Amino acid sequence: MPYSNETIAATAAYVQELLTGEGSGHDWWHIYRVWNNAKHIAAHEDVDLYIVELAALLHDIGDHKFHNGDDTVGPRMAREWLTKHEVNPEHITHICEIIKDLSYKGAGTSSAMKSLEGCVVQDADRLDAIGAIGIARTFAYGGHKNRELYNPTIPTQLHDSFEAYKASTAPTINHFYEKLLLLKDRMHTKTANQLAEERHAYMENFLKQFYAEWEGLK
Ligand code: ADP
Ligand code: NI
Repeated sequence: MPYSNETIAATAAYVQELLTGEGSGHDWWHIYRVWNNAKHIAAHEDVDLYIVELAALLHDIGDHKFHNGDDTVGPRMAREWLTKHEVNPEHITHICEIIKDLSYKGAGTSSAMKSLEGCVVQDADRLDAIGAIGIARTFAYGGHKNRELYNPTIPTQLHDSFEAYKASTAPTINHFYEKLLLLKDRMHTKTANQLAEERHAYMENFLKQFYAEWEGLK
């Protein structure tokens, strides 16, 4: 089947059912926001919107963090779903490649995307990792993993391998330096870049206030 809005609607319903109520910041509403971000960015880019929408919807269905670090589960689940819906095999391969490459893999590593569609989806996902929502998701994830909020005695590490990044159990504030504050300069599209500026400034203000309160200065 070539381009079908029915496939997009069915995919949204499938993902909503799978991820509703997830408690670590990777729930259906994360997907909903990334899907919206992706459509917004795509409107300014010469991309295949069908690929962008399906990849955005399916990008977190089998996240490595919830499958013992196995990053083949997500693309495999997406392939099964899209095959069942008779999506063109070339499109399936493209969508699964985007899902496989999408994840942030550590400060000193590359998570390059092979297509403009992939760049749009990665920007859309990363916008949801920064700003007010990014802060909320990060502390939700930290709680989910039983992490300390902050511990001034544990220094930040800039991981240069995906393995080291995945193995980190550092306090949640460290994640700002390991990932969130680095994303602004790693956006691919102009649209995402502009949106990232304000969200980045909001996080910097948050951190300033956080440290001041930590010492009882505010
Ligand atoms: P990506 O979508 O690039 O693969 P992840 O799924 O790893 O990113 O992370 C999505 C969000 O989950 C992060 O932006 C952050 O809010 C939260 N998160 C992931 N890892 C951590 C961590 N080690 N500490 C705190 N929050 C985390
Ligand atoms: Ni995501």
